[in-house]
Amino acid sequence: MGVNKKIVFSASPGGRLTGNIRVPGDKSISHRSIMLGSLAEGVTEVSGFLEGDDALATLNAFRQMGVKIDGPESGRVTINGVGMHGLKQPDTALDLGNSGTSMRLLSGLLAGQGLDLTLVGDSSLSSRPMKRVTQPLAEMRANIETTDAGTAPLRIKPVEQLQGIDYPMPVASAQVKSCLLLAGMYAQGKTCVTEPAPTRDHTERMLQGFGYPVEHTDGKICISGGGRLKACRLEIPADISSAAFFLVGASIAQGSELTLQHVGINPTRDGVITILKYMGADIQILNRRDVGGEPVADLRVRSARLKGIVIPEDQVPLAIDEFPALFIAAACAEGETVLTGAEELRVKESDRIQVMADGLQALGIRAEPTADGIRIQGGEIQGGSVESHGDHRIAMSFAMAALRAKGAIKINDCANVNTSFPGFVALARATGLDISVAE
Ligand code: S3P
Repeated sequence: MGVNKKIVFSASPGGRLTGNIRVPGDKSISHRSIMLGSLAEGVTEVSGFLEGDDALATLNAFRQMGVKIDGPESGRVTINGVGMHGLKQPDTALDLGNSGTSMRLLSGLLAGQGLDLTLVGDSSLSSRPMKRVTQPLAEMRANIETTDAGTAPLRIKPVEQLQGIDYPMPVASAQVKSCLLLAGMYAQGKTCVTEPAPTRDHTERMLQGFGYPVEHTDGKICISGGGRLKACRLEIPADISSAAFFLVGASIAQGSELTLQHVGINPTRDGVITILKYMGADIQILNRRDVGGEPVADLRVRSARLKGIVIPEDQVPLAIDEFPALFIAAACAEGETVLTGAEELRVKESDRIQVMADGLQALGIRAEPTADGIRIQGGEIQGGSVESHGDHRIAMSFAMAALRAKGAIKINDCANVNTSFPGFVALARATGLDISVAE
């Protein structure tokens, strides 16, 4: 999996983004399609699947547990579901690479299966907090060991029976919520999770699509154990988190006009559009439609003069993965942009507050990291060299910064772009970013 540190992006200054493109499938939904399709009765047909390393890590984990999965081929995957209790003991540890979603959701999904399993990941994933899932799972009577630091490897041991809990979630995390709902399918009684703020609800939507009831009232989401999943057809929309780089790129590069087709605009994911519009971006939402229980639209973005803003804290969970790209928009905006309430950014694939602040400073932008956010003063982006620390979204964000830079931007350690956005460089080139890759 993508740990080739020698991939370097080099993006020439200037240019504009034009055309009509479709970015790859939604990562969150792709993971969930494999998970629920594997546990369903019957054959689930998926289209628009993200063929990136993260979703493939989930796919391979289920293959290792005996599920016959055909594809992916041009985004098509066929999953021969084994039913709620049909997974087999794998021969080796499940290697989830860089994927936090795989590890956190699988820890819940697998906690009550009577299997003895080990979940491992790469160095980034092995330093991310896992107690946030293992602690509530222990309250459900799961038996999962972490390292003393509360990190992976996770060792999941068989237990008699999970018990439902009523869990007020301390952080607004869709991964924690989803982990507990998936465990709740195997628990006695009801499992409820209360969110401090709305987070992405793909798990709830997809469970319902597979015929498994979920109740949602006033931020409290409940599931009862002992149900079944029925196979279905899934069409996965393009990932708004991948579209975000192009929304920012086209906004900051003068003369741009770009259409992004078939983008998922689930209201628990659309913070990037809201925030960019507050900054003055010109984004039109066209052809709104519903595809398999998820709202989808085409997004037309034209360049605009952006202004710095104070980002409303209620938008933070709705744009949690898009802040690296939004920080580039802030660097190109007139005035100051202030982000608070976003401490979660420090425990993503990298410490996204520090790593973005370091990179922006290296390019001559005033960026002051704070405990829970950042202050960025819009200015002139210079050429230079930045470190992505193996974080896909940092790499792609700095690539877009070149559109407004005075000199070339070199970005180190970019192999992990393949975790979420295979084909990024080719698509960015096709729309007008002069980017090349060196190994
Ligand atoms: C995800 C939830 C978010 C997000 C991640 C994908 C998901 O993580 O950052 O990329 O698919 O549930 P948190 O739940 O930790 O905020």
